[in-house]
Amino acid sequence: MSLHSVPGPIGIFDSGYGGLTILEGIRRLMPEPDYLYLGDNARAPYGTRSFEVVYQFTLQAVKRLFDEGCHLVILGCNTASAKALRTIQQNDLPEIDPSRRVLGIIRPTVEALGGLTRSGHIGVFGTPGTIRSRSYEMEVSKLYPDFQVTGQECPMWVPLVENREADSPGADYFVQKYVDMLLTADPKIDTALLGCTHYPLLIRKIRNAVPREVQVITQGDIVARSLRDYLARHPEMDAKISRGGSCRYLTTESASKFSEMGSLFLSKHIEAESIIL
Ligand code: DGL
Repeated sequence: MSLHSVPGPIGIFDSGYGGLTILEGIRRLMPEPDYLYLGDNARAPYGTRSFEVVYQFTLQAVKRLFDEGCHLVILGCNTASAKALRTIQQNDLPEIDPSRRVLGIIRPTVEALGGLTRSGHIGVFGTPGTIRSRSYEMEVSKLYPDFQVTGQECPMWVPLVENREADSPGADYFVQKYVDMLLTADPKIDTALLGCTHYPLLIRKIRNAVPREVQVITQGDIVARSLRDYLARHPEMDAKISRGGSCRYLTTESASKFSEMGSLFLSKHIEAESIIL
């Protein structure tokens, strides 16, 4: 068998812990494949970094996941999906290996939004990088030109999660602040998307902060269903995924720190390995 046909795990990448919320959704729906998670915790957060830096960091991570045997990599990070995905797909993949695939999470999320909003007014909470890229507005306007999207930058939410302050009373202030800013900008919003994979760790506080009629949407299950459909439509890729039900965790930070925090986020014990990108 050539290296190109040896089955490998599905790679999931995020700047830090946030992609674990995507991994969780995917593993719930598809427990059989092997998975390889990579968190670039040493360089997180990405949300306030420039386009070029997010692109370079993401490309390094994708190459590493390919080197580890992944044929398919999911960018479980909105910031990387917004700023790096297209360039990697169009410029880098053809050179690295045209048979491998890198998928993002913005397009599948937008596809699902159509069935969720009644008012057609959608709010998106995201990192400054995701919101300023206007990726959600652009994707929504292609599929649902009548919908109105309002983005809200939440620069404090990722640091709260990464520093284990998501459940602290201090987080309430910053949750309420960005919720109020979003709903003041468009009071007709009935669907608020957590457009950053870290934010589900704050969901209890976010749900308490929004009015009852506003539904709060996370991406894990949406991305999982979309990936399952993708693999059904691409049997050639499906055949390249190994199926032992395992999951390895790589981090650019200390392995023990990731193991401790990751175990908290996933509510089960995990052992991470430290790598240098
Ligand atoms: N979790 C990532 C996202 O979905 C990025 C968070 C960050 O590193 O700022 O946007």
